[in-house]
Amino acid sequence: MKKVYIETYGCQMNVNDTEVIFSILADAGYARTEVMEEADLVMANTCSIRDNAEQRIWGRIEVFHQLRKARPDVLVGIVGCMAERLKDKLLDTHKVDLVVGPDAYRSLPRLLEAVHPGSPQIDVLLSRSETYADITPVRTDRNGISAFISIMRGCNNVCSYCVVPYTRGAERSRDASTIVREACDVYARGYKEVTLLGQNVDSYLWKSATETVNFAGLLSRVAAIAPDLRVRFATSHPKDISDEVIAVMASTHNICKHIHLPVQSGSSRMLALMRRKYDREWYLERVSAIRRAMPDCGITTDVIAGFCSETLEDHAATLSLMEEVGFDWAFMFAYSDRPGTLANRTMQDDVPAEEKNRRLNEIIALQNRKSLERYRAQIGRTLEVLVEGPSKRDPAMLCGRASNNMMCVFPALLPEGASSVMPDPDRASRRPGTYTMVRVLDCTSATLICE
Ligand code: 5AD
Ligand code: SF4
Repeated sequence: MKKVYIETYGCQMNVNDTEVIFSILADAGYARTEVMEEADLVMANTCSIRDNAEQRIWGRIEVFHQLRKARPDVLVGIVGCMAERLKDKLLDTHKVDLVVGPDAYRSLPRLLEAVHPGSPQIDVLLSRSETYADITPVRTDRNGISAFISIMRGCNNVCSYCVVPYTRGAERSRDASTIVREACDVYARGYKEVTLLGQNVDSYLWKSATETVNFAGLLSRVAAIAPDLRVRFATSHPKDISDEVIAVMASTHNICKHIHLPVQSGSSRMLALMRRKYDREWYLERVSAIRRAMPDCGITTDVIAGFCSETLEDHAATLSLMEEVGFDWAFMFAYSDRPGTLANRTMQDDVPAEEKNRRLNEIIALQNRKSLERYRAQIGRTLEVLVEGPSKRDPAMLCGRASNNMMCVFPALLPEGASSVMPDPDRASRRPGTYTMVRVLDCTSATLICE
């Protein structure tokens, strides 16, 4: 049996796509390996979101080619978001064997039959309907507790800075019944958490002859599978997150109280240029609505520093919004001009790199302070945690997330085997995949230290 090795870059959705690819390749006779040197097919599932993401991948392609020097029969494939955008450079300059876009993974077996060194194969067609609904992903998570399920593909928002609509095509929702079936299946296999993934989950809409399911409806259905199956989702869009979704979250115990709500900027002028279709006031109102319904809901965000024509005043508006909201956590980026986007075609990337980084550093410093504040506010509270496994830093500790998505670490108590010496009646309740109550004693800006 041939072996395939895949490196995944970019978002969770890409991680899930890699699982779909493993499933398609398994049917074509390829077994998965985590050791690059033993693979017959070496692939990178790529990301185009910022220039530095792409730069990293060019470096990896060189490493793949080194491998091929020793073993000329090894095939090199580039799949995912860079495929369509950079197909010519990938084939002509970088001599890869396979270039396959995010909607064309079903053609991999066919392309692999035709490919051999010196005769590359390509399929980067985007689709209006492909959702891989019937494919059962080969799970690549290590803990067997938390699974990701794609509920839609592509994106119809044309945020002016963003390359995703071009790399992943138009938005389409996946058949609700296949999503529920996949969630049932992972639950039956022992998973205790599913995260529903989409570029903009709030615009999920599935219509069949007999029913129409929106995102709130989908959430309810997945949460109804079992009371001890946690449901998470990402990403929400501030323009679309509805009162109905907020109400379903608030009234359903096993839907986790965490919303990733990218704001991008606190300046309404910037938001208009970014084509986000909301302004600062709208965003703040949505945050208020979430907190009215769920006072303890974790809210996290994405922020871009130094978008086209951003002034110091606009930047100050981002800082003041972050101060006002108090996000638990944020992903923060310097604006990166992406070829083909609206901003690239019609605006000037005129904030100098140094100034972008200065603003970004201010944003990061403020967020670190806010994160610490938000985490400190949990001290003394009792939280329900889904145990994931040993903590990375200290194997004597276990880790797991609270509903609000904060990472908790807490003592694993007695090591395995010691229970015969000193019985630990609670040990079973602290196995990975079980729920346990912890009390927060202390924290850093990213971890709650608990008992
Ligand atoms: N430059 C910088 N950050 C970007 N993002 C998307 N496009 C760009 C870009 N061109 C960020 C946004 C988005 C996150 C996934 O990546 O904050 O929410
Ligand atoms: Fe994911 Fe966007 Fe990167 Fe594509 S470009 S892998 S959609 S983050």
